[in-house]
Amino acid sequence: MTRSVLFVCLGNICRSPTAEAVFRALSEGRGLHIDSAGTSGWHDGLGADPRASAEARQRGYDMSAIRSRKVATADFDTFDLIIAMDRENLRDLQDIQPAGSKARVELFLPFAPELGRSEVPDPYFEDNFPEVFDMIEAASRGLLDKL
Ligand code: 4NP
Repeated sequence: MTRSVLFVCLGNICRSPTAEAVFRALSEGRGLHIDSAGTSGWHDGLGADPRASAEARQRGYDMSAIRSRKVATADFDTFDLIIAMDRENLRDLQDIQPAGSKARVELFLPFAPELGRSEVPDPYFEDNFPEVFDMIEAASRGLLDKL
């Protein structure tokens, strides 16, 4: 049974905090432990990118309490499921996953097969926040259906 989900991207200021906020809202009342983290640690302690926060607000999600942190070894035993936004995140997670730890590590977008793509593009550089939110909302609905 999946009781805890950690969303992971590179910086933990765009894609994974968006997934955390969207999935927390969609799964409200289910008692899940939901968090997000970055593989890099570059933005440790900072809030989400203002472009993500603004798009979130428009869609009725609140990202204001989310702070960036680096993924930690302990996360692989704390969380049942760790969701990577792209293949590089997936590889980086697989490289540091301790042998015998409990977490399953999977890509996010295959939970929305109708999108026909496997990676969430990086909006930090592409500045395509609405498109990324659409993908994250679709994959969150798909993931929730599977839990
Ligand atoms: P994220 O986006 O991985 O979706 O949080 C990025 C944020 C910052 C950087 C790259 C991607 N950066 O290079 O600082």
